[in-house]
Amino acid sequence: MNIHATDTITVRRVSAGEAREHAAPLAEALADVLIDCVEGGASVSFMLPLPRARALAFWHGVLEDVARQERVLLVAQTTAGCIIGTVQLITALPDNQPHRADVAKMLVHRDARRRGVAAQLLAAVDQAAREEAKSVLVLDTVTGGDAERLYQRAGWQAVGSVPNYALMPDGAYCGTTFFHKQLAV
Ligand SMILES: CC(C)(COP(=O)(O)OP(=O)(O)OC[C@H]1O[C@@H](n2cnc3c(N)ncnc32)[C@H](O)[C@@H]1OP(=O)(O)O)[C@@H](O)C(=O)NCCC(=O)NCCS
Repeated sequence: MNIHATDTITVRRVSAGEAREHAAPLAEALADVLIDCVEGGASVSFMLPLPRARALAFWHGVLEDVARQERVLLVAQTTAGCIIGTVQLITALPDNQPHRADVAKMLVHRDARRRGVAAQLLAAVDQAAREEAKSVLVLDTVTGGDAERLYQRAGWQAVGSVPNYALMPDGAYCGTTFFHKQLAV
């Protein structure tokens, strides 16, 4: 992945039209980020090895949800338009939770880490949530992982942890910590 120190990273929302009309190149770019994260040991629903076809199928499903306006997809990209990070806001929830959304699949390519990309994505999550009139956000992450500090810095409150909730990509059990954030919309 070509990332230069001088690159300006911008975060943008993928529109429903773009998700419909440009699904193939978007899925390819997002698969690159997902596979890199899983190969780097991130517990984000997938096990190793992660075949490219499986990663592509996952992103095509996400893009279908975006096209139906059931999910918000944010991407972080370089000046040259290369996608290096992403996060989602799942907005289609049960009828009794119209004010709530789940945040999922916060992923930053290893070559682009530790320069504030995830923090930028989280700020954009708050903005997108307000646009969608969502005032209660929930997410979960690996207990003791790097992302816990990220969410705490961005004002998320830890609720508690469930031991042995999921597996790491290599098959080891890991705990999961649940976080929430209340927004004024
Ligand atoms: C967790 C993850 C999203 C963080 O992405 P990131 O873009 O590196 O995050 P940030 O750059 O905002 O912050 C990471 C660190 O870099 C530091 N940092 C941010 N900007 C920096 C800069 N310009 N110079 C130096 N350090 C910087 C932050 O303070 C933070 O430090 P810490 O880890 O010691 O607390 C990324 O590691 C990742 O994709 N991991 C795999 C997938 C995953 O686990 N996702 C979470 C699922 S819930």
